[in-house]
Amino acid sequence: MALRKIVEVGDPILRKKSRPVEKFDGRLHTLLDDMKETMYENNGVGLAAVQVGVLRRVVVMDCSEDRTGYTELINPEIIEMQGEQCESEGCLSLPGETGITRRPAEVKVKALDRDGKWCVYKGTGLKARCFCHEIDHLDGVLFTDRLVRDPIEDIK
Ligand code: NI
Repeated sequence: MALRKIVEVGDPILRKKSRPVEKFDGRLHTLLDDMKETMYENNGVGLAAVQVGVLRRVVVMDCSEDRTGYTELINPEIIEMQGEQCESEGCLSLPGETGITRRPAEVKVKALDRDGKWCVYKGTGLKARCFCHEIDHLDGVLFTDRLVRDPIEDIK
């Protein structure tokens, strides 16, 4: 495994749409392993491949407090969402920046695993926000595009 450099805001690649993964080979596994190491090294809860400069629909996540909830999502899609939450969000590509976004309270996601098998995941709270945030990255969307304009007014 190797650490990869995280692309920061201002780099136009963050605005590009990532392409689906078609080959579940050693190259994909190396990318996933490197993303995992890079996410943990930077204390992130999620990382999309575009954030290490690779325009493929690949995400790694771990929203657990004890760092035992590692998940890999390939070609992920949100298949259900419910409710609403407005909470603070940040991003490894926007160091030092946080803001309150509006996200669904609960989401169900389907994604391929590293061997190309479909799996279904559910998340509420932070995990639901993370699924949405990371999948947004695959379409060139940043959390700053989803800020609640007036947090106090909008939370009501
Ligand atoms: Ni991010």
